[in-house]
Amino acid sequence: MAKELTVKEAAHARAVREMFAGIAGRYDLLNHVLSLNIDKRWRRAVAVSLNTVLSDPDATVLDVACGTGDLALELNRETKARIIGTDFCRPMLSLAQAKAATELKPIPFVEGDAMTLPFGDNQFDAVTIAFGLRNLANVADGLKELCRVLRPGGSLAVLEFSTPIVPGFGRLFNLYFSHVLPRIGGAVSGSRGAYEYLPDSVTKFPNQKNLAALLEVSGFETVKYRNLTGGVSALHLGTKTI
Ligand SMILES: C[S@@+](CC[C@H](N)C(=O)[O-])C[C@H]1O[C@@H](n2cnc3c(N)ncnc32)[C@H](O)[C@@H]1O
Repeated sequence: MAKELTVKEAAHARAVREMFAGIAGRYDLLNHVLSLNIDKRWRRAVAVSLNTVLSDPDATVLDVACGTGDLALELNRETKARIIGTDFCRPMLSLAQAKAATELKPIPFVEGDAMTLPFGDNQFDAVTIAFGLRNLANVADGLKELCRVLRPGGSLAVLEFSTPIVPGFGRLFNLYFSHVLPRIGGAVSGSRGAYEYLPDSVTKFPNQKNLAALLEVSGFETVKYRNLTGGVSALHLGTKTI
């Protein structure tokens, strides 16, 4: 069973939900503009990594912290598995529902908190989370909750900002991420705070190796990761220990 949130964790969750509610309308535009559309390639990499499960018509995949649904839509594209999206921010979820309305294979979107998912144990063949893990009030407890709903042997895919591995590029990227991005994001979304929170939350998040180690102590085995765009993002994969 999921642990109850502490008062501090509950306050963090509330602040994160309100922040995403405030920028929901501009979220997609800013994502694509600020990443020069590279975010689409990163989500595609998640779908490719789950190719086997996605081609199974009996499989069900849960996309946690699905936001406006871009990863759920990518997972749903030309695949057979059933995709479900979940997020705790209603305005983000409403946009996901609108975007998925024309999908031939419907995607149910369920309002839910990643720390206490509204699903039973061992239900999903794969669980994905893109740019969501970093926002959870307690990353280790969040990973355990993702593990709980995954069937033994099922796959977890975590796409998240990470630590650039090329020194010169890393410095340049950090300059952009910490100084340019908050200005553009703030001006377009009207919430400078949300785009200052972004680099801040990435700085506090474990790097590639530490996140892999965290997955291993949270119930996952065969853990591996791949750097995307020089480590600006990383895709971590693991399977739930049988
Ligand atoms: C940066 S967005 C990522 C959205 C989407 N996965 C994507 O790739 O664009 C983070 C999302 O995580 C959601 N989120 C943060 N904490 C959450 C939690 N505890 N439970 C469910 N959703 C959460 C937010 O509401 C937001 O929609």
